[in-house]
Amino acid sequence: MPKVAIVGATGAVGTEMRRQLDLRGFPVDGEPVYLASERSAGTRLPWKDGEVEVRPISAAAFEGVDVALFSAGGGRSREWAPVAVDAGAVVIDNSSAWRMDDQVPLVVSEVNPEAITDRPKGIVANPNCTTMVLMVAVKPLHDAFGLTEVVASSYQAAGGAGMSGITELLDQAAKLVDVGEETLRAHGAQAEGSVDAQVFSKALAFNVLAHCGSFTEERYTDEEWKLLNESRKILALPSLRVSPTCVRVPVVVGHAIATRLTFAGPVARDVAIEVLQDAPGLVVEDGTGQGDEPLAYPTPLGSAGRDEVFVGRVREDLGDDHSLNLWVVGDNLLKGAALNAVQLAELVAAE
Ligand code: A2P
Repeated sequence: MPKVAIVGATGAVGTEMRRQLDLRGFPVDGEPVYLASERSAGTRLPWKDGEVEVRPISAAAFEGVDVALFSAGGGRSREWAPVAVDAGAVVIDNSSAWRMDDQVPLVVSEVNPEAITDRPKGIVANPNCTTMVLMVAVKPLHDAFGLTEVVASSYQAAGGAGMSGITELLDQAAKLVDVGEETLRAHGAQAEGSVDAQVFSKALAFNVLAHCGSFTEERYTDEEWKLLNESRKILALPSLRVSPTCVRVPVVVGHAIATRLTFAGPVARDVAIEVLQDAPGLVVEDGTGQGDEPLAYPTPLGSAGRDEVFVGRVREDLGDDHSLNLWVVGDNLLKGAALNAVQLAELVAAE
């Protein structure tokens, strides 16, 4: 049985990693090693019926570890993943630090599991949460119809920015409820300026922010570049055209993506639905509420705490018979992060 470490065990994704290891019955040797910052050292966190003490990261902490799950930010991954590998561990890294390294596979368990065995650096990268959710729906359609272009607008939850993002959203929401309806309706700029915004650039509660992450000189954000570069790498389509817009919405957990997918030939909705219904890890919820069709489409709130990725609003494009429009939703902390990381650990353990 593998000995397992979780780096960032106190964080939003680390918390889910701990739960997923237990829920999925991952065969952990003894108890896992919980690592975080000095601030959390000595804190005790649950493991099965007991508790495990959180330790600060150190080389000694990786001794004997076979699988190390990292979700403590890119800086920690860059510094400590090679240390964990030197100690004999396979690293599964949830940060963006290693994703675009040619010698590091970028793996979604349903999409390109075969890539995981080729890992010369001993590191496997877990994709960006938005890209991950989108790929689960895109891959079967690509296999069936041959993908040529993706236009994607994301609606990303606060939880994508970690526990502090969730806390900030909830604090702002409570404050703005107190500020009251009239200010929110008639003096929005005053309401927007009245709350503390540290994690996000402006008030996120009762608002929509037209960027996630930081801007690059091309006027796109790093989150948008991740969607482009990581999609190309995961699908092994290095020239895929991707037009991304990443938006933050006042949702605690659950990322949604409205996407237009273009294929090599004409594509019909009913065939696409069959393909999506047969795809692993995917649930189709698609109904208009007209006639005998029940109204059905997935929501971020409805996906929170669920393992699957959900797809709905599947429509043939109105102007291009090679294109489909669809709505894809998934829990960014589960399939978008911790669940996929543990699924990758399962693939490694099964080798
Ligand atoms: P800590 O709780 O001790 O700060 P989130 O993504 O929810 O913000 O969580 C980030 C995770 O990364 C937390 O477990 C956090 O630990 C950990 N972390 C942040 N900075 C460091 C650091 N300098 N060294 C080790 N762990 C860190």
